Amino acid sequence: MALRTLATRKTLGGLGLGFQQQLRGLQTFSLPDLPYDYGALEPAISGEIMQLHHQKHHQTYITNYNKALEQLHDAMAKGDSPTVVKLQSAIKFNGGGHINHSIFWKNLAPVREGGGEPPKGSLGSAIDTHYGSLESLIQKINAEGAALQGSGWVWLAVDKELKRLVIETTANQDPLVTKGPSLAPLLGIDVWEHAYYLQYKNVRPDYLKNVWKVMNWKYASEVFEKECP
Ligand SMILES: [Fe+2]
Repeated sequence: MALRTLATRKTLGGLGLGFQQQLRGLQTFSLPDLPYDYGALEPAISGEIMQLHHQKHHQTYITNYNKALEQLHDAMAKGDSPTVVKLQSAIKFNGGGHINHSIFWKNLAPVREGGGEPPKGSLGSAIDTHYGSLESLIQKINAEGAALQGSGWVWLAVDKELKRLVIETTANQDPLVTKGPSLAPLLGIDVWEHAYYLQYKNVRPDYLKNVWKVMNWKYASEVFEKECP
């Protein structure tokens, strides 16, 4: 995940805030580049959605995450425990938003670059063993994603201890790790309205049906092989 010093983000000149933050060793996060053009996932996901989602939504999580971390650093330096505790929800929400979206961009790929091509190798075999077929797995994930109330994510993960695939959902921007430390995300689908509303309006199931056309199973397979050798 992209890290850089706060000094590069905020330099107020002379011995300004940026310099002080650099001295304190504070680090901040920055927006990762998309591995494809905004319009490259069309027609499954419009370029307009991708651009807004990446440049506005993901960037906002990062901005607020950095702000909360800066406030946390200051509160800890002052021994201000109420503020330290108060900041935890902002860190979870915005830090989770950064973690989840950073995975999501890698979960997708243009069709010409293999998006939508079914998984091969050990992940393909594991899916057949646990779910019967890829189609059956997709149906289950889509059903969970459609049923998720409000905003959140639906995940295909591997439980590294049990060595098996699991489908999970998380609310809001909770990252998958909140559901268990042994879970490693292979694929996460953003089911917040901002991920589909401009194109699919309120019909989340249509978005869920089409997102598989640009799913990057190659990425999921690589993670699976690394986490579950
Ligand atoms: Fe999102």
